[in-house]
Amino acid sequence: MTKEELFTTFHNIGLVPVVKIDDAEKAVPLAKALIDGGIPCAEITFRTDAAEEAIKRVTKAYPEMLVGAGTVINPKLAEKAVAAGAKFIVSAGFNRETVEWCLSHNIPVVPGVCTPSEIEMGLSMGLTTLKFFPAEASGGVAMLKDFSGPFSQVKFMTTGGININNLQDYAKASNVLAIGGSWMVKADLINDEKWDEITRLCKEARIKLQGFTLAHVGINLPDADAAAGAADEFAKLGMEIKNGNSSIFMNKEIEVMKKNYLGKNGHLAFRCNDIERAIYFLKDKGFTVNEETVKKDAKGKITVCYLNEEIGGFAIHLVK
Ligand code: 3PG
Repeated sequence: MTKEELFTTFHNIGLVPVVKIDDAEKAVPLAKALIDGGIPCAEITFRTDAAEEAIKRVTKAYPEMLVGAGTVINPKLAEKAVAAGAKFIVSAGFNRETVEWCLSHNIPVVPGVCTPSEIEMGLSMGLTTLKFFPAEASGGVAMLKDFSGPFSQVKFMTTGGININNLQDYAKASNVLAIGGSWMVKADLINDEKWDEITRLCKEARIKLQGFTLAHVGINLPDADAAAGAADEFAKLGMEIKNGNSSIFMNKEIEVMKKNYLGKNGHLAFRCNDIERAIYFLKDKGFTVNEETVKKDAKGKITVCYLNEEIGGFAIHLVK
């Protein structure tokens, strides 16, 4: 996997469990719990003596899983982690020597930063993906928003104080590549072998990350006259008519189509935080993208698309 593919996968999964494991025996069942929860990814931190062996076991059992090492505080530890099978190196702070070692060995490295000067250190070494740590204590999403001005090319893996309750705020930030944290894999859950609970927490986080909310309902009508007639009826309920080329919006909630468009009855538009990530998520659930409906912005990011599968006679429309 190239560095670019690795970072794209991070973005698509969107979540990086930060693991502190005391007993390497528990590493493989933990990895299975994460995979079952839809998060085939983990940062196993060198905060315990079991980290190295845990990385070895997980990478052997699940070679496809994105397993990296965290809390890598020097090049020696990076070397040890990579020898054990770590596919990427993460650190809480910025250590030039560790970064240099990783770059010279072509190992993806994500050092921690929380100030503009540290970001510039990263940029000067060619890094555009950095870990924002400790995220909450350093200003959280407000800080990320400020970083996006001068450092628009930088994407962040954010960790530190993030959990199910504030995850959405980070998911909405345009410069967040992925959100990391220990809340899904608390040490006591691992020690007590609460694998089902870990899987549940992963699933809960994954769905929350997408931020699906109903944006509008699209109703298919055969022609413009029928659409105008329906619009007049909705207007009787006090809805405001906004006439467009191919449809009429009633407030923002109902779109009356001027001809039969996708979906037997029409479409349901869902807003989500990131369409590429939502597509990756929905693929697991059996949905596929109708490629002809994909629209992108100047940066190549998808802004709208439809899925091929209908629900209850309605096409599913994803919007940002
Ligand atoms: C890390 O190293 O990324 C943090 O320890 C994770 O932070 P959290 O425990 O607050 O999630």
